[in-house]
Amino acid sequence: MAILEIVKDPDPVLRRKAEPVTQVTKRIRRLIKDMLETMYSADGVGLAAPQVGVSERVIVVDIGEGPVALINPEIEIDEASGKEIDVEGCLSIPGTFGYVERAEEVVVNGLNETGRSTRIKAEGLFARALQHETDHLDGVLFIDHALEIQSETDK
Ligand code: NI
Repeated sequence: MAILEIVKDPDPVLRRKAEPVTQVTKRIRRLIKDMLETMYSADGVGLAAPQVGVSERVIVVDIGEGPVALINPEIEIDEASGKEIDVEGCLSIPGTFGYVERAEEVVVNGLNETGRSTRIKAEGLFARALQHETDHLDGVLFIDHALEIQSETDK
């Protein structure tokens, strides 16, 4: 495993629409392991592949309940419910925080690291992290829809 370099805003890879993964290969499994190690070493709760310079649809999340990796994640719009405003940050935008409205509960479909279809029901922080990371795959950053943005340098 390896700790990868985290790409920072405004690197263009963060704004690109990431490509779907066509096959869950050894390379993808290694990418997932490296992303998890990178996320843990940076004290993050989620990471998307574009944040390590890989424009492919892979995300990892761990809100303290164990690692979850999703390939080609798709949020089921019909199953999303509730609205919640809470503070978010991003490892690609260090020192910046903002309040973002997200669905309180979501259902996300995708593939796991073994290539199996998986369906995750999530709420609260887990749901928020999945929405934040899935946004990254479409080139969307939390600052794009934050209601209020604060930088540490503003204080
Ligand atoms: Ni982020």
